[in-house]
Parts: sequence; structure tokens; C-alpha cells
Amino acid sequence: MVTLRKNNRRLSLAIDALRHHDVVAFPTETVYGLGAVALWDDAVTKIFEAKSRPATNPLIVHVPHREMARRIGYFDRPAEALVEAFWPGPLTIVVRVREEAGISEWVTAGLPTVALRSPSHPIAMQILEDLNLPLAAPSANRSGRISATTAADVRAEFGDTVKVVIDGGPCRVGLESTIVDVSHDGSVSLLRPGGQSRESIERVIGRLQDAYPDEEAPRSPGRLSNHYAPNLPLRLDASEPRSEEAYLAFGPSNARSEIATRNLSQSGDLTEAACNLFGMMRALDRSPATRIAVSPIPQYGLGEAINDRLHRAAAPRDRT
Ligand code: TXA
Ligand code: MG
Repeated sequence: MVTLRKNNRRLSLAIDALRHHDVVAFPTETVYGLGAVALWDDAVTKIFEAKSRPATNPLIVHVPHREMARRIGYFDRPAEALVEAFWPGPLTIVVRVREEAGISEWVTAGLPTVALRSPSHPIAMQILEDLNLPLAAPSANRSGRISATTAADVRAEFGDTVKVVIDGGPCRVGLESTIVDVSHDGSVSLLRPGGQSRESIERVIGRLQDAYPDEEAPRSPGRLSNHYAPNLPLRLDASEPRSEEAYLAFGPSNARSEIATRNLSQSGDLTEAACNLFGMMRALDRSPATRIAVSPIPQYGLGEAINDRLHRAAAPRDRT
């Protein structure tokens, strides 16, 4: 496996790999992505193979700028307002796809819509600009597992099956992008809470409709339970751990597990907590505990996305 570091400016190797229809893992501000050119079936199917991802689950298309996004999807006024306010950044919009854009049907899973995002991470931006092609990129984890927020996580997930991993250090946001559906005239709905808070989006376009409870699936299969699953079971809203439990705390709590304790944010900062969530879940998952107890997390700002991921991680494993 070739691991490229940020400073050695050998991104051209990654770009060559992508041009040769290969997959490349790269950092974004949210989580690491496993990218392939979104136009080529043979490239995109390598993503599904590496992740063991069901073909029914569509991928997000990453673009360097709005002009490319508008060539791929139909933008109405709410879509324009959203990208004007939040791109580049942790917001994905679902719009109707333009047939002539040539996006692989593997990427859209045959839907009449496409999910688009322009990431703000400098390495992701540079790859997209130099390549000048849209990149399909799901989170760089095996299907159903916790997303990778460091290059080491990516390597732990895929070993040698992913040959090029670009190391950009830990992701700044640490949670996947927020996904909103603007493909229906007159309504904008939240498909997945994420790194862009609901409140910030509602300040720009007004009230969001809720579409993300599981019953609404499978329009966004990432909303299904059984995603983000650690190996250990979770117990949520726990003000302190019981014996044999590891503890994921939040805020100025003194509660500690005798096995392993991590605090998402001692000061109660939800942005810091979001950034720490997946790494700390991975760390506690490796402990000898029989379960992970998790402190209550407030349901505002990035807390909505944190709680969403925790509830999925705690969902019974026989549901898919
Ligand atoms: O932050 C992120 O969004 C990361 C980074 C790499 O950009 N990507 C990511 O991709 O989280 P993934 O594949 O793990 O999650 C994408 C979600 C899935 O739940 C998928 O079902 C949904 O986006 N999705 C993709 N296309 C869609 C569409 N046309 N309509 C509805 N949902 C869609
Ligand atoms: Mg994912």
C-alpha cells in the first residue's frame, strides 16, 4: 500500500490512479472518502467491492465547484441558496440528475436523483480541481462500520485492498456531511443530520422537513439502523457506567469506568464532541469491556447528528 503524506505533494500519484480507473482513499473535512471517477462503471464498482456495499445504496458525488455541480444536477432556488451559503463544506444536496452528465448508474443506484457535495478539505479540493472530473466517494469504511477519520482507520478497515491512501491527518469535523433533499419542488427535507447543523441550514432556507427516520428509507439507505456499528453493544443516556462497561462521557462529568473512559468534550462543546465521536468509539470498542455506556448528549447543533449516529450504533444488529 502506498500512503501519501500531505506535504510530499505527490497527489499526482493519486490522480494517476483515479485516471486509471482505480480507487483512492482521501481526506475530507468530514470523514475519509473512498473515491473513484463517478462516470466510469468499472471504477465505481471497485468501491462497492472494497466496501461490500449493497448496490442499492447510492454514492455522493464530490465536485470541485458549483459549475460542475450544475452540469450534473438541476439546481432550483433552494439548491442555489444552500450551496451559496455552505459550499465548500459539510453539506450534501440531493437534486434531480441530468442524464447527459453521464454519471454511472452505480452511483445513483438507478434513482432519478444525485447527491452532490463540494468538500472544503484542501487535499480533497486539490484532487478534484486537478482531476477536473466528479468523484463518487462514500465514507472509507467497510459497509455498516464506523466511518474512518484518520488514515490509520482507513488502513485498519481495508488493509491492502485499497492501494493508495492519502494521509491528511485527522478530519476536522469528524462526522459525515448533512444530507438535504431538494429534488422535490417546494419542500426541503433532512435525509441525514451531519456536520452542518440543522439550525444553520434553517436560517438560510427556513424550516426543514424531517425525512430521516428509518421508516422513510430506503431513499437514503445510510439512514438505516445497523450503520456505524461497533463490535460492542451500546447503552445510551447513561449518567454513569456499570461494571464491565466502558464509558463514553460528555461534559464535566466525574463518572469513570474501571475499564476505559473517554470524554467527548469535557467543556460540553458539541463541535469538539462530533470530532471525537468515531475515534473514541473505535478506541472503547477495542477495550475488554462487554458494553459501551454513553452519556446523554443534548439534541441541538451537532448534537442531533451525534445522537443519530449513536442510535444507529445502538440499534439491534439483526436489522439491516
Ligand atoms: O461526509 C460525507 O458525506 C462523506 C464524505 C466522504 O464526503 N461521505 C459519505 O458517504 O458519508 P456515504 O456513502 O457513507 O453516505 C452517503 C449517503 C448514503 O446514506 C446514501 O444512501 C445517500 O448518501 N445518498 C446518496 N445518493 C443519494 C440520493 N440520490 N438520494 C438519497 N440519498 C442518497
Ligand atoms: Mg458511510
